Amino acid sequence: MQWIKIFASEERAANTLTENKPQLVVANGKRICLVKHEGKYLAVSDRCTHNGESLSKGKVNHLGEIICPWHGHQFNLKSGREIHERSADLECFPIKVEQSGFYLGL
Ligand code: FES
Repeated sequence: MQWIKIFASEERAANTLTENKPQLVVANGKRICLVKHEGKYLAVSDRCTHNGESLSKGKVNHLGEIICPWHGHQFNLKSGREIHERSADLECFPIKVEQSGFYLGL
């Protein structure tokens, strides 16, 4: 796994990301949907497994699920699982925060 620095610090990430507002990040050519939810950071593939819509255009509910704006499929941001099993799981990516920065694992 390769760790890609996304922000210079956790503080920068916290100031850039808005709670429950998905943010598109492109790292190593991959489109990633990054979410801050209840003070935690979660990253999943930005491509909806149903029909390819960009999930960073979607909404995050209070349960930590991202809802695709196109047909409403709803994915758990921790497991990547679509809650009604209507489409394949999303790929999930780890995040680590160190003194040297905020990293995404690809
Ligand atoms: S493309 Fe996401 S629910 Fe259809």
